[in-house]
Amino acid sequence: MTRARLTIDPHFSVGPINRRLFGSFVEHLGRCVYDGAFEPGHPAADADGWRTDVIELVRELGVTTVRYPGGNFVSGYRWEDGVGPRDERPRRLDLAWHSTETNQVGLDEFAGWARKVDAELMYAVNLGTRGVQEALDVLEYANIASGTALSDERVANGVTEPHGIRIWCLGNEMDGPWQLGHLPAREYGQRAAQTARGMRQVDESLELVVCGSSFIEMPTFGTWEREVLEETYDEVDYISCHAYYEPIDGDLASFLASAVSMDRFIDAVVATADYVKAIKSSSKTMYVSFDEWNVWYKSRYNEVDRITDPTQWPVAPRLLEDAYSVIDAVVVGGLLISLLRHADRVTAASLAQLVNVIAPIMTEPGGPAWRQTTFFPFAITSRLARGHALELKLDAPTHETALHGEVPLVDAVATHDPETGDTAVFLVNRSLDESIEVEVDASLLADVALVSAESIHDDDIHAANTLAEPERVAVRSNDSVRVSDGLVRVVLPPVSWTAIALSSTVVG
Ligand code: AHR
Repeated sequence: MTRARLTIDPHFSVGPINRRLFGSFVEHLGRCVYDGAFEPGHPAADADGWRTDVIELVRELGVTTVRYPGGNFVSGYRWEDGVGPRDERPRRLDLAWHSTETNQVGLDEFAGWARKVDAELMYAVNLGTRGVQEALDVLEYANIASGTALSDERVANGVTEPHGIRIWCLGNEMDGPWQLGHLPAREYGQRAAQTARGMRQVDESLELVVCGSSFIEMPTFGTWEREVLEETYDEVDYISCHAYYEPIDGDLASFLASAVSMDRFIDAVVATADYVKAIKSSSKTMYVSFDEWNVWYKSRYNEVDRITDPTQWPVAPRLLEDAYSVIDAVVVGGLLISLLRHADRVTAASLAQLVNVIAPIMTEPGGPAWRQTTFFPFAITSRLARGHALELKLDAPTHETALHGEVPLVDAVATHDPETGDTAVFLVNRSLDESIEVEVDASLLADVALVSAESIHDDDIHAANTLAEPERVAVRSNDSVRVSDGLVRVVLPPVSWTAIALSSTVVG
């Protein structure tokens, strides 16, 4: 059998794992909000119209933050349409998704939902069709206790406590020509800097995210980051990355190695940010908010879903409802490994999205809610990855891929919590046909013992959970694991993702 070996040393920390790494994203898009998380007529809906079965699944998923309300949607959104008496809220055209926005859910309702799922709200302002004033207005409405026109309006709307939103996105994908109000980098950077300065006049302690590139293949990638950060470096805390992965022309080997592309993306953005830091002689470190990432069969959206008929503006249409398979879950697990490996610089991230729209959770109106395959690696990683991400020494055979060149067949990351001794190792086998035995040298941990080992793997790598078969794919215990003398041996089946939880004694 093919073999790989890795060594973990609890002293070699990449950095502490920020819990915001396990964030997600809810956009007013398709059935993410309406007929998804929010369905007042559903038997499981609570008094506010939110589905309690979805709330339970979101909690189980371990989501720590939720970015809202978009996405492309936000670049044409008027936040004030979504507050106040529901029967007075306007219906509007949503140009991003060729839909009708009813505004029955807005900032106050969504902030209430975020509290129900125990997640922090990350709010995006519209810098596409709007600017500094509207960003300041929504900040005043959301975060000022009372005593001003907009904060008193919130109180009059029945929300007495301010929402206290700490982290704000300055627009969405402003590098993309598809974005309403898209701008060249310098102009966007200046608009973002002015907005940030204004927002900081309200509250210096806010955390602000400026838009980076929509994907690494953008023709402006690199230059965009440099120019935007030259304009905003002193004003913002994070630069965003967005990336979606799918197999191109059936090339599954490259698809399984999507984390290589994510690694390169993060490394390049960090290098560009550090270049701007150097030329500005700044002592401040810029962090990365990877606030949209996932597998997305975008080609399917473009060929099947996209609404183009100028007479059609549906409410909550079925858009981007990808049914995820085993191989998609393995890729998502691999992308989580990449994010953890960069824990020193990636301190916020959002799986895009959360319900129905390229989502780990699916719902049927009036019917059940279920876990997609991608639910499992996210939930398990969020639960087990505690403390610090560790530097790894990994020796693995390699193979050639069309998109990424030569890549290791096994990818892995380990985490260790010095407070509890809890350690986790996350591994991916990228081979399409070979099992690989991995030996993990954990002998530098004291009294190491196995807690659990779980894998996602199936003889049918295209198997998925659907309305008809919602539990077709599940996580299975990996019974191949053996631990002796600090060595952990595990067999990874082809196209699989595995999480091993270990306990160890805390050494003072
Ligand atoms: O998540 C779907 C879309 O992907 C978002 O609206 C946009 O930001 C990105 O292009």
